[in-house]
Amino acid sequence: MADIFTPWQMKDLAIPNRLVRSATWEGLADADGAPTHELINALADLAEGGVGLIITGYAYIAPEGLGLPKQTGVHIDALVGPLTRISDAVHKAGGLVAMQIVHAGGQTKSKWIGQKPVGPSALVNPAFGEEVAEMSLMQIEDTIEAFAMAAARVKAAGFDAVQLHGAHGYLINQFLSQATNQRTDDYGGTPAKRARFAYEVLAATRQAVGPRYPVFIKLNSEDFVEGGLTLEEGVAVAQGLSQRGIDAIEVSGGGPAAGKLSPSRVVKEAADEGYFLPNAVAIKKVVSCPVICVGGWRSRSEVEKALDQVDAVALSRPFIRQPDLANRWKAGEEKATCISCNQCFSVGMKQGLGCGQELKKQEKEQG
Ligand SMILES: Cc1cc2nc3c(=O)[nH]c(=O)nc-3n(C[C@H](O)[C@H](O)[C@H](O)COP(=O)(O)O)c2cc1C
Repeated sequence: MADIFTPWQMKDLAIPNRLVRSATWEGLADADGAPTHELINALADLAEGGVGLIITGYAYIAPEGLGLPKQTGVHIDALVGPLTRISDAVHKAGGLVAMQIVHAGGQTKSKWIGQKPVGPSALVNPAFGEEVAEMSLMQIEDTIEAFAMAAARVKAAGFDAVQLHGAHGYLINQFLSQATNQRTDDYGGTPAKRARFAYEVLAATRQAVGPRYPVFIKLNSEDFVEGGLTLEEGVAVAQGLSQRGIDAIEVSGGGPAAGKLSPSRVVKEAADEGYFLPNAVAIKKVVSCPVICVGGWRSRSEVEKALDQVDAVALSRPFIRQPDLANRWKAGEEKATCISCNQCFSVGMKQGLGCGQELKKQEKEQG
């Protein structure tokens, strides 16, 4: 069994332990996409709680790429100043912070973005039910450039790394998956052509941030929808990204269209934990970068076992309920108290990042 509290490296970035806060949409930005005090405080709390690396909730790289209301933006230069307040606060609290950047593609609503959602192909998005407009080659080029410019802003705002969102049915994943990509040009068809968008986003991002800045990805290993990305295809994409210089891969799977096989599954007992570990291990075999496994980690001992096979683990829901979980595990506690009720999603919509069980308790106490 490996020790959770040993350091590791993502490129030149020395990360003090093997626990990562996986990207978690906070619903705590203002209408312009700028972080509120609540968001900055929540991320500083996580740093104080001892987690090795914090990944922010997904931040949108272009206005039409927004995925949910009250989402943080990184689409304009004017946000560099406000975003710097996040990195300053996390660093002051002794932590490290990466920003996850995303284009939602067809996985959004026209009422939120003020136009028809765009994606690789003109299909109805299976999760959001809206018709998607097929991106032109010029739109694809502009979007690759928008990822690169957003990454440059992340670096300028003092973040320690940038994470591309290549999972959960968002735009990069939409290109990878035959279920959402039926293009007949160089961006669709064979698995290699479907991966081209992801590879070009990585290349443009690398160009924008330079060779030493850590660029990593959260990647679907498998979509769990009919006609979607298979594990074999997911492993090949991971290998392709590794060959092209990605600095780490966080392995996930599924998306809003995957039903029970979603990225945020129900975890009742130890056997339910780490549900993407087999996929992460398959990817670890073919890449030369560190592999982070996300999905359902709840017990210190299960994480310790997993660390024999992957480099780090990432958690989302347990850190919403217990931002100091890393320090608790360091002090010898065994289990997170998260019950994976997934009410955090509706709390986020209502009032911003919070635990449904905690909210219930508070409401009861207040009578
Ligand atoms: C409220 C909420 C918001 C989330 N937002 C994001 C996000 O912005 N980006 C992302 O990649 N995953 C997001 N996820 C998925 C988590 O990062 C994670 O992959 C998933 O919940 C499984 O990990 P867990 O069992 O530790 O929660 C979110 C999950 C929750 C519960």
